[in-house]
Amino acid sequence: MADLGLLMHEQSIAEPEVFWQKAAKAISWDIVPNKVLDDSNKPFYRWFADGKMNTCFNAVDRHVLAGRGEQTAIHYISPVTQNEYAISYQSMLAQVKRLAGLMVSLGVTKGDRVVIYMPMVPETAYAMLACARIGAIHSVVFGGFAANELSTRINDAKPKLILSASCGIEPSGVVPYKPLLDNALAQATHTVEHCIILNRTEYQAELNAPRDLDWYSALVDAQDVDCVSLDATDPLYVLYTSGTTGQPKGVVRDNGGHAVALAWSMEHIYDTGVGDVFWAASDVGWVVGHSYIVYGPLLVGATTIMYEGKPIGTPDAGAFWRIIEQKHVRSFFTAPTAIRAIKREDPNGEFIKQFDLSCLKQMYLAGERCDPETLNWSQQQLGKPVVDHWWQTETGWPVAANLMGTDPIAIKPGSPARAVPGYQVEILDAMGEPVAANESGNVVIKQPLPPGTLTTLWQNDKRYIDSYLSMYPGYYLTGDAGYIDEDGYLYIMSRIDDIINVAGHRLSTGRFEEVLCQHEAVAEAAVIGVQDKLKGQVPLGLVVLKNGVTLSDDDLYKQLLALVRHEIGPVASFRLVSAVQKLPKTRSGKILRATMRKIADNQDYTMPATIEDPNTLEIVRNALTKMGYANALASEHTGG
Ligand code: COA
Ligand code: AMP
Repeated sequence: MADLGLLMHEQSIAEPEVFWQKAAKAISWDIVPNKVLDDSNKPFYRWFADGKMNTCFNAVDRHVLAGRGEQTAIHYISPVTQNEYAISYQSMLAQVKRLAGLMVSLGVTKGDRVVIYMPMVPETAYAMLACARIGAIHSVVFGGFAANELSTRINDAKPKLILSASCGIEPSGVVPYKPLLDNALAQATHTVEHCIILNRTEYQAELNAPRDLDWYSALVDAQDVDCVSLDATDPLYVLYTSGTTGQPKGVVRDNGGHAVALAWSMEHIYDTGVGDVFWAASDVGWVVGHSYIVYGPLLVGATTIMYEGKPIGTPDAGAFWRIIEQKHVRSFFTAPTAIRAIKREDPNGEFIKQFDLSCLKQMYLAGERCDPETLNWSQQQLGKPVVDHWWQTETGWPVAANLMGTDPIAIKPGSPARAVPGYQVEILDAMGEPVAANESGNVVIKQPLPPGTLTTLWQNDKRYIDSYLSMYPGYYLTGDAGYIDEDGYLYIMSRIDDIINVAGHRLSTGRFEEVLCQHEAVAEAAVIGVQDKLKGQVPLGLVVLKNGVTLSDDDLYKQLLALVRHEIGPVASFRLVSAVQKLPKTRSGKILRATMRKIADNQDYTMPATIEDPNTLEIVRNALTKMGYANALASEHTGG
């Protein structure tokens, strides 16, 4: 039998313009593009350069115009506030039109940036769509980041306007956002003209007039506005993600390519179309939230779910399954860490058995490597295909996946299946030579990347080229290492840089080190990601203290934890740090983080030939052992 996925992939690589021109038909264009791929300015590629459209029109208005205004666009489910309601496409349109009008009245126009720092409430989606409607470029900042991280992003994006809420709500309680926002604005060198604040009943924030406006009061006098026709290549959003330095990278996404790629992925990968219910249990602050809570499902006229809760504890480990049954979810997407959390609470799947999950066709996992045990357990418990798929903030949609809406292939646990049409994935060695099947190397994607992938880094073409395109000219460097087997299945095994993945959240060890070095007692710091049974990885810090420091171990520990929480935010999950006399380094002064990580995780390592002082490895091993790592007998590390 023909392998449809393979045929599609071959066509997408041999004739990308034919392939994507056909896919572009899923989108309503103001001017249909003639030029599908513009490669006149390599290494910058542009998709649909002469096309004009509006992403908000495609995600909202056109469904109402097609007579589906009554259909639910968003189910808002918030166990943490005991609140739940449905929003139709029609009422979403009314909210978005008016909010866009308010933004215009505040002087926001095409190309202006708007920062959104909000929890998982429908207003966050309205804010993104309202920006898209008027051609403003949104930049959503995850609520778990501290004021300092927000301020760094404000300085880089230079927004005219910020939309925020008084608070987020975590199982641990109310997290006031407004004081964090005020603090971030006070620290920032860039001045923001206005903030629109959603005051929630759980915590009422004080508004600083005339800068701050109350969301719903301000809407009363605002006028509705229509969609602005945009070039397909105009930026839709900037989303900051961790790089290897403390300065995050502002991934730029365009309008046209993004809409085409997401619509294509909804049908072919996620098996979801008009009227289906799709749920990505992530957060709008991450790329998964951008692509598959907001834009993807809405672009194809599906119903999406905004869930303000956790996989466990809100109220229990049955939360996901209960919602899937109640809302008739067809395709469900979460991170492996969430499944591990559920499995820990409900190892025998007692909750799963309580619900009728016949509506669910498949579950998708991404955000971190999916260990075969988690995949096998969930597949067994659910009795449905569980689809590991691989992608990153930069690509915006899956690079490798099983095409569940096209022609599913056999699932191999540990592999996110094969390269998706549009992506030519290869494995290269350090010299840039392709390696044989089953041999590990750097995972790269041959240029041009398909529509919907990053076009550059915000106002930093040089960093874009240096980070992704310079190592192997003609190829995009993913930063992941892995291999492809004899059947073309990809295996993503680790990062090649200093990025770690904590509960599906991508964080930079370089940023942790910068923060630790801010402490007056710390001379030097090294942070590595160590294996964790629940979160995949957690950060572990080793610090060298300045001479003459008299701080007790306990005080030092508490102060460093508080410092990281204050500077990076609770999302850092930083609970492991210890002082050592010396760090292992090469003779040229580079800290040997990879070797330290291997020691911590009980993996084989070879003594680096360039090590300055071999004794330092023993020093590190002792410190790690005291922290519960570097010990072959240790089975579960949960920090603390
Ligand atoms: N606003 C404010 N604080 C936030 C936040 C937000 N949006 N999101 C998380 N936090 C806080 C949490 O309250 C917690 O704070 P605490 O240290 O005071 O308890 C901290 O950040 C770490 O949160 P989290 O990573 O959620 O860990 P957890 O231990 O509370 O829960 C899991 C563990 C596995 C249940 C949780 O990590 C999870 O649901 N992961 C799914 C990940 C995911 O969807 N990733 C998206 C990529 S697809
Ligand atoms: P982010 O940009 O936050 O989405 O993180 C992207 C990174 O997470 C990738 O580069 C990988 O390192 C990792 N990742 C995401 N999905 C997977 C997966 N299915 N398997 C292995 N690693 C993954």
